[in-house]
Amino acid sequence: MQLKKTSKKREIIYMKLNLSVAIATFALSFVSCSQQDNTPSLKDEWGHKYLIGTAVNQWQVAGETPIETAAILKHFNCVTAENCMKSEVINPQKGVWDFTLADEFVAFAEKNNLTIMGHAPIWHSQQAKWFCFDDNGELVCADTLKQRIHDHIFTVMQRYKGKIKGYDVVNEAIEDDGSYRNSLMYQIMGEEFIDWSFQCAMEADPDAELYYNDYSMWAEGKRNTVCELIKRLKSKNIKIDAIGLQCHYGMDFPEVSAFEESIKAFINEGVRVQFTEFDMSILPNPYTGADVATRFQYTPDKDPYRDGVPADVQAAWNARVKEFIAIIDKYQDKVNRITFWGVTDSSSWKNDFPIPGRKDYALPIDREGNLKDIL
Ligand code: GLA
Repeated sequence: MQLKKTSKKREIIYMKLNLSVAIATFALSFVSCSQQDNTPSLKDEWGHKYLIGTAVNQWQVAGETPIETAAILKHFNCVTAENCMKSEVINPQKGVWDFTLADEFVAFAEKNNLTIMGHAPIWHSQQAKWFCFDDNGELVCADTLKQRIHDHIFTVMQRYKGKIKGYDVVNEAIEDDGSYRNSLMYQIMGEEFIDWSFQCAMEADPDAELYYNDYSMWAEGKRNTVCELIKRLKSKNIKIDAIGLQCHYGMDFPEVSAFEESIKAFINEGVRVQFTEFDMSILPNPYTGADVATRFQYTPDKDPYRDGVPADVQAAWNARVKEFIAIIDKYQDKVNRITFWGVTDSSSWKNDFPIPGRKDYALPIDREGNLKDIL
C-alpha cells in the first residue's frame, strides 16, 4: 500500500516535471524564434553567382572565437586556410610532416559543407627554411629542388584528393614590373620552377583546379607576364584553370579601370578569374603591394580611426567595395569566387600590415560580426 502510494506520487511528480520541460522548451523556441537572425548574408546574396569565401585561422576552426565562427557559417560557403597549409607549418623540417591543423581545418569545412581551397603549396614566403638548402647550408641543385617540389605537392594534394577543390599552386612569383621574383626557387631553377609545380600538381590530383595567385595584379608589368605565363603553360599542355587576383586594396589604389583591364586580359588568355584575398584598408597607406616582408614605422597620424570610423569615411569605403563588385559582376560567367582575407575586422592581417599595431576596418564584417552596407 505504502509502495503504491509512493509510486503514484512519483508518477505525479514525473508528469509535472514533463509538463514544465515542455513549457520551457516551448518558451525557449519562442525566444529563439523572436531572436532569429534575419539580416542578409553574403552567401545568400551572392552565392548563386560565385563561391563566397573567407580565410580562416585555427582558433576559428576550434570554435574559440565564437563571433568569428558564427560569421563563417552565416556568410560563407567556401574557405581557405589562412596559414595552416603553408609549407613552414606542414613540413617544417626535412622529412617532418605535421598535418594536425590542416586536417582540423579540412574536417571543419567538411562538417559545415564549405568548399575548400588549397593555399599555397609553392610560395617563397612562409616556406619551410630547409626547402632550398642542403645539409651544408648551400642552395640545392635544380634536380634536388625539382624532387622536393614534386614530393611536397604530391604529399599534400594526394592527402586531400577529392576534398580540396583547387590550389593556389604557385603564389607571388612575379614582381609588379613583370620580372620574375628573385626567390631562392627562381635562383635555382629560373621560371621553370613554376611550370614544374603546375606539372606536378596536375599529376598529383588530376581533378583539382589549378591556379596562379598574386597581389597587385592590376600592375601592367605583372599583368603582361601573367598572360605570358598562361600562354607558356598552355603551349606545354600544362593545366592552369584560373588566375587568382589577391586584391589587397586601399582607398586610393588601384584604379578600378586597371583592375578591370587585368580581368579582361586574363580571361582573353582562356582562363577563369577569382578574387582570392579581398580586403580594402580604410587607413592611409605608404605601400600598395602585399609582400608580407614589408613593414613601415607606426605613427599615430597613420592610425586615425582607433575610436571608430566617421560615417562619411565608412560610406566611401562601402561605395568603393560596391564599385569593385560591380566590375566583377560584369564578368560573372568567368568568375569562380570571391574570397575575403579574414572573417571580421578583428581577425584581419591589415591591423598589422604594412604598419604594425594599427586598427583597420578592411573587411565586409565588423568586429561585432555585423555585415557592412555593401550589398
Ligand atoms: C599573401 C598570402 C596570404 C597571406 C597574406 C597576408 O597575400 O598569399 O597567404 O599570407 O599575404 O596575410
